[in-house]
Amino acid sequence: MRSILSFVTAVLNRTTPPPKPEQIEIIEVPLPPSLDNTTEGACTPAINPRRTGCIAPTGLNSGNFMPDGLHVTASVTFVGAPASPDPASVYSGLQFILLKADGTTFPNGDTWKCISCSVPDANKVGSTELGEYPQTFRDGTKAMSGVNIINCGMAQLTSENCTPNKTYIYPIRLSNEANDDGSGPGFPLRELRLHPDDVHLTFNTFAETSSGLGEVGFFGRLQFNETGSRYDLINVTILNPPELVRPIIAEGKQLTVNRSAITIGELRGLTGTGKEVVYVGYPYESCNIDLFAVSLATGAVRRITAHPEYADPIGVSPDDKWQVVLDTRGSGRLMFLSGLRSVPPITDLVTVTASSSVRNNGNRRFFEPYLLDYEGDRSEYFGQKINAAGNGSPGSINDPNWNAGADPRWSLDGTRVVYFQWLAIPPACGGSNSLLCETSPYADGREERVMIATFTNRKPLPIKSVAEAPDDIPWGTKYVPGMTLTAAEITVPAGEYTLQGNLFGYADVSITLNNANTALQTVSVAYHQFSDDGINFVAGYENVTLTPVNITLNRWDWFSNITSTGPVSGTKVTSSDGFHMEIDEVWNFFEANGTLTTTIDGVSYRQPCNYC
Ligand SMILES: *[C@@H]1O[C@H](CO)[C@@H](O)[C@H](O)[C@H]1NC(C)=O
Ligand SMILES: *[C@@H]1O[C@H](CO)[C@@H](O)[C@H](O)[C@H]1NC(C)=O
Ligand SMILES: *[C@@H]1O[C@H](CO)[C@@H](O)[C@H](O)[C@H]1NC(C)=O
Ligand SMILES: *[C@@H]1O[C@H](CO)[C@@H](O)[C@H](O)[C@H]1NC(C)=O
Ligand SMILES: *[C@@H]1O[C@H](CO)[C@@H](O)[C@H](O)[C@H]1NC(C)=O
Ligand SMILES: *[C@@H]1O[C@H](CO)[C@@H](O)[C@H](O)[C@H]1NC(C)=O
Ligand SMILES: *[C@@H]1O[C@H](CO)[C@@H](O)[C@H](O)[C@H]1NC(C)=O
Ligand SMILES: *[C@@H]1O[C@H](CO)[C@@H](O)[C@H](O)[C@H]1NC(C)=O
Repeated sequence: MRSILSFVTAVLNRTTPPPKPEQIEIIEVPLPPSLDNTTEGACTPAINPRRTGCIAPTGLNSGNFMPDGLHVTASVTFVGAPASPDPASVYSGLQFILLKADGTTFPNGDTWKCISCSVPDANKVGSTELGEYPQTFRDGTKAMSGVNIINCGMAQLTSENCTPNKTYIYPIRLSNEANDDGSGPGFPLRELRLHPDDVHLTFNTFAETSSGLGEVGFFGRLQFNETGSRYDLINVTILNPPELVRPIIAEGKQLTVNRSAITIGELRGLTGTGKEVVYVGYPYESCNIDLFAVSLATGAVRRITAHPEYADPIGVSPDDKWQVVLDTRGSGRLMFLSGLRSVPPITDLVTVTASSSVRNNGNRRFFEPYLLDYEGDRSEYFGQKINAAGNGSPGSINDPNWNAGADPRWSLDGTRVVYFQWLAIPPACGGSNSLLCETSPYADGREERVMIATFTNRKPLPIKSVAEAPDDIPWGTKYVPGMTLTAAEITVPAGEYTLQGNLFGYADVSITLNNANTALQTVSVAYHQFSDDGINFVAGYENVTLTPVNITLNRWDWFSNITSTGPVSGTKVTSSDGFHMEIDEVWNFFEANGTLTTTIDGVSYRQPCNYC
């Protein structure tokens, strides 16, 4: 019955049949020796005879493939360097390195090359930490790491011609003042991603909202500023101005859900061709956090993931036909919140931060890499787990205690994907936590690793250059230095409303504000055979009250008794005393009293235990 219905749905929605599972081979990329000792000189010649550094067991980020497909970018923390003037003293702190991806070595015999380690101070004035999202430009002579550009002039970063004296590290700056003399630091920027045209990028900055913390997402052009010795961001567009982000519309007593709305919560970069930006957006279905793409040229929105679990990091293939998403699917972590499909995203007016914060337990992420085709999740297709092979034993390819970090990245020929993983470590395991800590299976004790998946039956794609994208985003808002940045807040006026099902039934919705009338507080919904798809029918009620404790810590008091009937029958029910949850969106430690349980076709999904 269910497969007939999903076939009918596929035909009605004009979707193509899901792809067949592919053959995937996984290898591990060699890293510098790991050392759990930050004492000066602890990285001895016995540990690294070539005197080219030791790295901390944690903190690695890998990035993308160099254009030759033979190297991968990474940032690591070097520790235990000897004091200056020992030449090995430069292998210290957070640095940008290249890793050999093909089993060969650099001429000195190492499998890595530190690009930033010996750069003279005069060549990196004003630069900042080289941490997250180390990524090469497609021309191979420049890279971006943190909020900096690493530039080797005409030389390929991989070549012997790229020497420290020829290397410059420039900060990237977004002007934040109307009459800017270029002296201040500008806006603090995060989550920077290069466009494949090597000229544009996307980025976010935090901004407060009435109920907590939000992000403003931008698209802009990089321009080298010789006088300022930095890269400036110019011709910048805001992609989620508050007036645009309106997925829930109130008109009179009627509420509607606008699934064409552009609802960028956090920008996650660009597709392989750079024609669309990808982002974590406002849910299409209640409590289900998904990835979407929006066309820079037209503003058309496309949903990529639909699995009830949580997705966020994404890498799209150079031809846009495939993507790898990092997702909690398979872990069951969020099914208690989002397992019931087809519930409209109304209580989400106050619960989006709840649904997105439960994804981690502190530093333990539940992300695994999944391959999805262009159309993404649909009917019973939920992609292919990339690292499925293995026996799950400690350190194996599919050991669930090794969790992937942002971002997975494709080789330019579309045959391989690189991703990195961190081992769960205290306090995300051990002590009072019910998850036991696993000892590192590696002789040097490292708790991080870089993996390359090869799709062995794929033919390499021709490597195409990407035309420069226009600066203008017709649906965005031009950023003008000095303007006040406001993070979009999804809200509707307090009141009593009706929400019609697209095909059947309706829901009564009641919305109240806090005492100060500054932010949404309670959303109550009563469903009456509500159906958007004509297949699943929702009945019962859900009411949720949000109380901010501070800017990142929130409390939710939650009462549900929802029933869904149709091809999948299920319930979402809180205990009689309700479900009461607190979570800090930065630390992600879950704490609750009472229960919230979702049952689908007789299988019950319960909330995680507190602090695990
Ligand atoms: C790099 O530049 C410094 C300062 O100009 C100089 O002392 C040093 O010899 C140069 N190193 C190399 C390898 O050229
Ligand atoms: C380049 O930097 C200088 C010095 O900080 C500044 O005065 C100037 O406005 C910048 N140019 C542009 C185009 O932003
Ligand atoms: C920035 O945009 C303006 C107008 O929108 C355009 O005239 C200018 O050429 C753009 N700057 C660059 C460097 O492309
Ligand atoms: C839904 O959002 C799209 C994209 O912003 C917009 O063009 C459209 O007018 C909106 N629909 C309604 C009914 O507001
Ligand atoms: C929410 O539901 C509970 C249980 O039915 C009820 O006691 C409470 O008054 C409701 N709160 C609101 C604001 O509707
Ligand atoms: C919010 O409160 C929690 C618990 O008291 C505290 O640990 C955290 O640091 C606070 N965060 C901010 C941003 O004040
Ligand atoms: C939930 O609603 C159903 C149907 O109205 C009812 O039979 C059941 O007792 C309710 N459960 C709880 C825990 O309130
Ligand atoms: C759970 O109940 C305990 C004991 O009353 C209380 O200390 C704690 O703050 C409660 N936590 C939440 C999230 O409500």
